[in-house]
Amino acid sequence: MVKIAVTAEAGDEPRVAISPETVKKFVGLGCTVTVEKGAGERSRFSDAALQAAGAEIAGSSADTIKDADVLLTVARPSSDNINALKSGAIAVAMMDPFGDRGALDAMAGTGGTSFTMEFMPRISRAQSMDVLSSQANLAGYKAVVDAASMFEQAMPMMMTAAGTVPAAKLFVMGVGVAGLQAIATGRRLGAIVTATDVRPATKEQVASLGAKFIAVEDDEFKQAQTAAGYAKPMSEAYQQKQAELVAEHIAKQNIVITTALIPGRPAPKLITKAMVESMQPGSIIVDLAAERGGNCEVTQAGDIAEHHGVRIAGPINLAGAVPVNASALYARNLLTFLTPLIDKEAGKLEIDWEDELVQGTLLTKDGKVVHPNLQPKEGA
Ligand code: NAI
Repeated sequence: MVKIAVTAEAGDEPRVAISPETVKKFVGLGCTVTVEKGAGERSRFSDAALQAAGAEIAGSSADTIKDADVLLTVARPSSDNINALKSGAIAVAMMDPFGDRGALDAMAGTGGTSFTMEFMPRISRAQSMDVLSSQANLAGYKAVVDAASMFEQAMPMMMTAAGTVPAAKLFVMGVGVAGLQAIATGRRLGAIVTATDVRPATKEQVASLGAKFIAVEDDEFKQAQTAAGYAKPMSEAYQQKQAELVAEHIAKQNIVITTALIPGRPAPKLITKAMVESMQPGSIIVDLAAERGGNCEVTQAGDIAEHHGVRIAGPINLAGAVPVNASALYARNLLTFLTPLIDKEAGKLEIDWEDELVQGTLLTKDGKVVHPNLQPKEGA
């Protein structure tokens, strides 16, 4: 029987890699599931609920991992936990593949096989396994809700006998998964929403959500999307034109949500200090790119900065602030990825190493970091 192990997360990570629903599904696939005591607590999945779904609860991480075929976590597991895995077992998590290379090499050095969910290829077959989407969608929602609660004014226009309350103006920078949800949430709350991105495909998406699209639409913009659907780094000249456009627009905004990212690079700086100073006191910026250096010059990761009366939130792990949903969706992403790797009849893992999704996410194997994105660049 394939044994699935789920340890408790370290530090202040509130999410967990399993839910009562996925326990049931794994058991249905002929697996046993062992969860470390209290691992689901902050996602409101009690030990009792996980047990009722068919999981065993273990008292320590060592007991959880013992004899496991699969270790599931949210963040990169410790080298000790990887080390404790038996030969042939796999670890699957959001391994933060571009973060802390020293620790990643140490993890690889244990000889363990690991997969990183962030590298899931963005093809339609893998949509239900896409952790970046499942988590970014919740982060985009929460960013707007948090901004609304920090904003000392109302979001929707209200016509009352005592006078009219104007609708808030909300600007979304970067219209990927998080940005689209931020637009939709802002619209539901009654804000006047505008949005910008460098990928032309976003123009129609923004319009379809009832928001106005604003961007420098030159020849470079027409080429800004990679085959993988991500943004390319833009030229100095483009960034200059973009900054001029943003400078003029942002001065009139009450709330700005930034989500702009380029894979494997620091976040592009889109909001300068001077732009923050041009905004009305009481305005709010929520910088979802804070973890990767921030889209705003003033952002402090993990904190709320204040500059000229404008508050700039730089939340880290915002999906974790809606842990019940974030864990449930992440657990489902893991389940759909693992299902084809489990041979129910034989009761063992059967990994097709040629499969595009397996190859796309394989991070460490046989003592090395094997993913092509993480090999030294030629000439570098
Ligand atoms: P992301 O998190 O890497 O970046 C967020 C947004 O920032 C992107 O829209 C990007 O174009 C934008 N951006 C980058 N530089 C910018 C700049 N200088 N100014 C303004 N905006 C800038 O992107 P995310 O959310 O991961 O989505 C990327 C694409 O992948 C989308 O087209 C999405 O629909 C697609 N996708 C496909 C999936 C699949 O087929 N399995 C699953 C999820 C997403």
